[in-house]
Formats: sequence, structure tokens, C-alpha cells
Amino acid sequence: MKQQTLAIIKPDATKRNLIGEILTCMERNGFTIKALKMLHLTSEQAEGFYAEHKGKDFLPKLVTFMTSAPIVVLVLEGENAVENYRELMGATKVELRKSGTIRKMYGLGLTENSVHGSDSEESAKREIAYFFTPNEIMN
Ligand code: RTP
Ligand code: MG
Repeated sequence: MKQQTLAIIKPDATKRNLIGEILTCMERNGFTIKALKMLHLTSEQAEGFYAEHKGKDFLPKLVTFMTSAPIVVLVLEGENAVENYRELMGATKVELRKSGTIRKMYGLGLTENSVHGSDSEESAKREIAYFFTPNEIMN
């Protein structure tokens, strides 16, 4: 099933000039970029994006990190894109990251993990709409 997901190249990666390498990795693994923009989130935007984590103890740290430098947000399309891109991204927990995953190759730790990916089709729809208007997404 062809599907879309929302990916983010996070501040730790943009600061280390890894945007190109990570985009290449996404494309080489079968994902098509349907929309892409660079932006520097405000705290309000980061909190709104991570609404699912409201009240969690790691949220303030996450918001500080996500607002620390520009990010790249993109819509990726591919077969089972939500699940397959989560696989390419690698696990949240450092010790569970498999070799060849983006987080294993480029991540610095639990918070500074280089990339985000939607965790369900429902989240993907919400997150895509959070950053893109329909006319910004290519057919
Ligand atoms: P993401 O949403 O960024 O794709 O990451 P994820 O699904 O793998 O992890 P999630 O549970 O949604 O957490 C969002 C981000 O919060 C940071 N985090 N810190 N215990 C902690 O300190 C902790 N747990 C999660 C990570 O940066 C994670 O990507
Ligand atoms: Mg998540």
C-alpha cells in the first residue's frame, strides 16, 4: 500500500551538515520526497507538534533541542511508508538501534537522534497537515 509519512531531519543533524546524506539515504531506500522545507521552530510550534507527549518529563528537554537550530521537514511516500520509514530510522532506545539505520549511523544519543518519523497513519496525517498545506505536497 502506497502511503505517506512525515519525516524531520533534526537540529543535531542539520548542525553537522548531514542534510544531504540523510536525504540520500531516504531516497536510496525507496522513499520519494513529495514535499520539503527548512524551518526554525518556536517553542510553541515544537510543543504543538509533540502534543502527544504533553506532561512527559522529557518534553522540556525535547522542545529545547528541537528549537536549538533549523530543521528539515518532509513528506515521504512509499510502500507502507509509516512502518518502513520507522524501520530505516532506527529505534528510540540507543541500544536497540540496528546497523544501517539512520539513528545508528548519525544519532548522538536518546534526544539527539537526527531524525523523526510518524508513528502511525493517523499521526502521519496530523503531522503532515501541521507543516504543509495540500498545495505544497506534490502529486
Ligand atoms: P520521534 O517521535 O522523534 O520520531 O521519536 P520516537 O517516536 O522514536 O520517540 P518518542 O517516544 O515519540 O519520543 C520523541 C522524542 O523524544 C525524545 N525522547 N527522550 N526518556 C527520554 O529522555 C526520551 N524519550 C524520548 C527523543 O528525541 C525522541 O525522538
Ligand atoms: Mg514519536
